[in-house]
Amino acid sequence: MRQIVEPRPTVVHTPAPLPAAPITAERYISESWLQREEEQLFATSWLVACLEQDVAEPGEYQVFNIGRESILVSRTDEGQVAAFYNACQHRGARVMVNDGGWVGQFTCPYHGWTYDHAGKLVHVPDEERFTGGIDKTAHSLKPVRTGTAFGLVWVCMSDEAPSLEAFLGPLLDIIAPYAVQDMTLIGDQTVSLDCNWKAVFDNFGELYHVDHIHPQHELMFNCPAATVHLFDRGHTGVVIDGHTVNPRLPIPDEPNPYLKAQIEKFGGDPAEFSGRVLDIRSSMQTLRRENGARRGWDYSAFSDERLSDIEQYNFFPNVMLTVQPDDALLARARPHPTDPNKCFWDKLTFHRFPDARVAETAGVAFEPHDPVGEPPTHRPQRDVFTQEDIIAGRKTMTITIDQDIHLIRDVQAGMHSKGFTAQKLCEDEVRIQHYHDWLDHVLGVR
Ligand code: FES
Ligand SMILES: [Fe+2]
Repeated sequence: MRQIVEPRPTVVHTPAPLPAAPITAERYISESWLQREEEQLFATSWLVACLEQDVAEPGEYQVFNIGRESILVSRTDEGQVAAFYNACQHRGARVMVNDGGWVGQFTCPYHGWTYDHAGKLVHVPDEERFTGGIDKTAHSLKPVRTGTAFGLVWVCMSDEAPSLEAFLGPLLDIIAPYAVQDMTLIGDQTVSLDCNWKAVFDNFGELYHVDHIHPQHELMFNCPAATVHLFDRGHTGVVIDGHTVNPRLPIPDEPNPYLKAQIEKFGGDPAEFSGRVLDIRSSMQTLRRENGARRGWDYSAFSDERLSDIEQYNFFPNVMLTVQPDDALLARARPHPTDPNKCFWDKLTFHRFPDARVAETAGVAFEPHDPVGEPPTHRPQRDVFTQEDIIAGRKTMTITIDQDIHLIRDVQAGMHSKGFTAQKLCEDEVRIQHYHDWLDHVLGVR
C-alpha cells in the first residue's frame, strides 16, 4: 500500500528571477518574438513530445512538431526511448511526415536513405556513387535528449539544460500520487487557433475569468478560494476546492445534477444533502475513502483533500496538466511555424477505469459504477479540427474549453490595437506574471 501524502502540496512560493514587468502586446504579435522563442525558449526547454505508450515497442514512433522544428521519437530495439531531429542527413528532408505509427526502419521518402530505430544510418541507395563513401556514424540522425515522467516522453534540444528531474523539481513528487501513467487515454484532439500560443496558455493560468464565462463551474468548484503555487523555473499550480459550489453566489438548497451524480457514484444518497450542499465536499472525501475500493479505485495514495479537489499545474513553457483521482487532462500549446497570430492546442484526456483487483485486494465485493462507461477497445484516433468547428458546434473539447476558444481569437485581435499597450493583471492572475517574468529571463529580454 502506498503512503498517504501531505494534505496539500507543500510548496514555498519561489520568486521569479526578475521583478514583475508589464506584459506588452509585442510578445503575442511580433514575428521577431516568435523567432526568438524558437531559438532561445523551445530550443532550451524540456518539452512534452508524446505519450510513452505510443512508443512502447521497438519500431513505434511519434513525430513532434513545434514551430518550424520537427523531432522524431522512437523506441530502440534495446528498449530505450530515443529522439532525433527529423531531418535526413542527405539533403535535409523530413524523414517521417505523418504523426506516428510503426516502421521496420526509417526510410527517407526523397532518395531512400534508411535509418534504424536508434537513428543510425544503415542504408544508402547506390552508395558507391558517393565519392569516398559515406561515414554512416557521422551521417546518422542527430540525437535529441529524452526523459520520461507522468507517462510522457519529454525532449530537450539543449545539452546545457538541467536534467528533466531538476527541471520539474518538486512537481515530480507532487503529481506522482495521481499515477497519470496508469490512466487510460480516452481523448486526443488538436485544434488550430487564431491566437498566439501564449494567449491560450495564459488563459489556463488564471481563474479570474471563470465566474464570468464559465457559469457551470459555480456548480462544481469554489474557484474564488483557490490556492496558487509559484514554482522555480516558471512552473505554476492551483488547487481548487471541488464537489462544492461557489459560495459568493446564493447557495442552492438541493445538490445540482452534477453533485448528485458524484454522490451516487460512491454509493451516497443525494437526498441526505438537502439544505446542506456545502457539506458535500467533506462527505465526498469520506464516501470515496470508504467505498472507493468497492468501486474499483485505490485511493490509498491520496490525502482527503485530493479526494474532493482538483489541481492544475502549468509546466514551463507550454503544457498544462489538470489532475483528479480518476481523471487527468493534458493540454499543450504549440506555436505556428511562422505566424505569431496562430497556434495549435493539443488536448489529451485520461481516465482511470475501475479495477476489480483493487476490490479483491481490499477483500470487498466489486461493484463498479463509473459514469464514464467502459474502457475503449482501441487508442482513440487524433481528431484535428479548427476553432471554427468549435464555434459552429461541430466539435467540442468540453463546454469549458469551448467557451475559452470562443473568446481567444478576439483577445489576439485586441492585442494588435493601437489602443492597447499592456496587460493590467489582478491578484488572481499572479501565475501569468510569474510565468512571463520567467519567460523574459529565459529569453534574456531584460
Ligand atoms: S534527402 Fe533524404 S534521402 Fe535524400
Ligand atoms: Fe476558461
